[in-house]
Amino acid sequence: MKVAVMGTGYVGLVTGACLADAGNHVICVDVDERKVQMLREGHIPIYEEGLEPIVQRNVQANRLEFTTESAEAIQNSDIIFIAVGTPSDHDGSADLKYVLQVAATIADNLNSEKIVICKSTVPVGTCDLVRETIAKRTDTPFHVISNPEFLKEGSAVQDFQSPDRVIIGSSDSNAAETVGELYKPFMRRRDRIVYMDVRSAEMTKYASNAMLATKISFMNEIANLCDRVGADVEKVRAGMSLDERIGPHFIFPGVGYGGSCFPKDVRALSRLGAENDFLTALLNSVEDVNNRQKLRLVHDLKEHLGSLKGKTIAVWGLSFKPKTDDVREAPALVGIERLVSEGATVRATDPVALENAQEELAHLGDKVSFYKDEYETIKGADALLIFTEWNQFRSPDFKKMKEIMAAPVIFDGRNLYSTAKMREYGFHYDSIGRPT
Ligand code: UGA
Repeated sequence: MKVAVMGTGYVGLVTGACLADAGNHVICVDVDERKVQMLREGHIPIYEEGLEPIVQRNVQANRLEFTTESAEAIQNSDIIFIAVGTPSDHDGSADLKYVLQVAATIADNLNSEKIVICKSTVPVGTCDLVRETIAKRTDTPFHVISNPEFLKEGSAVQDFQSPDRVIIGSSDSNAAETVGELYKPFMRRRDRIVYMDVRSAEMTKYASNAMLATKISFMNEIANLCDRVGADVEKVRAGMSLDERIGPHFIFPGVGYGGSCFPKDVRALSRLGAENDFLTALLNSVEDVNNRQKLRLVHDLKEHLGSLKGKTIAVWGLSFKPKTDDVREAPALVGIERLVSEGATVRATDPVALENAQEELAHLGDKVSFYKDEYETIKGADALLIFTEWNQFRSPDFKKMKEIMAAPVIFDGRNLYSTAKMREYGFHYDSIGRPT
């Protein structure tokens, strides 16, 4: 099939590359000329495992093209994905400016009957807005389909190539079938392509992310309670996970969820409630709990040290989770802002997100310094805070750490180490929901 993908962000690029890899002809469109040139040369602007070779081999095979010319891409395609960003407005609602701009461009270049797919995460009702925007500008027939993405950063290629489900929301069964055909090569089970109406598909995306965010905030609340009553959340988690209705996934306590999806989507759903005169009490609490959890390590450290003024604090892990360079809404950045505002200086490291974090924290000037090496980072530190569970942090040389830190103090937001071992090594070691 001939496919155009509007927007070569994280979702658009993975979608375009994987569809090309399955034999489709894909043209990816972006307004950013520099990015398009980079992609044409086979270099990808994001850190995503396994993506670069797929882009390279499909560009070489002429199945994957990159362009800034949207008109030509639209005219030469049967299926057009809208995969542009939907940033949060100041009130938490998703800003649809880019989505609707693309819809207008599609309308102005609609030279035959085509299928338009909303892939970006958009509020319920957006596909209808897209349909209205296009219909106002053209008489050529078209279909608008909601096909939300369920990719995780760090395993996006794998998620695309073996999805646990594909959601297709459409009011036209033939158009829906055509989109289903695009995904069939990737499906182990055909019955995992779920067809539904457009609004339900849009809601499925938000509800899925909100449910996952709820699981995390729930476990963080349980962990905080475990701390107060002397229970061990890791044992509680293991015990809970054997109930098949609960399951073992997404119940790891930590420093709160970050990233470009959960925080934005939970807020957008609350906003949708407010716009429809409905109080999303649970979702509001999910966000509240998360905001507090992001600061938990800093609070605990302050309690331990009395004051953070003049202290040197090391931070391991800046991305919102391992295997990504994404620092959007990352708990580490929130923690570092607070450490500095409390008068501490910070030494930070991350295996891949260092540059992005440096950019985000530039306004803090020399209060934060960045290091490639994790041991260099903790030199002379009064304490170490661990925000991200990168593999290289899992079994460090504790003896060396103790020698180079000013004080052997670790606050671990990801429960990486055995509390007994840390006692043996002589660290003051605090983690989330486990007795010390
Ligand atoms: C998330 C969803 O998992 C994807 O299904 C969805 O497609 C995507 O959002 C999206 O809407 O685009 P992602 O944001 O890449 O994917 O990251 P996750 O792996 O889901 O992690 C989110 C956050 O939750 C991270 O900060 C992570 O540390 C935290 N988390 C996750 C926990 O604190 N505990 C857990 O048990 C699991």
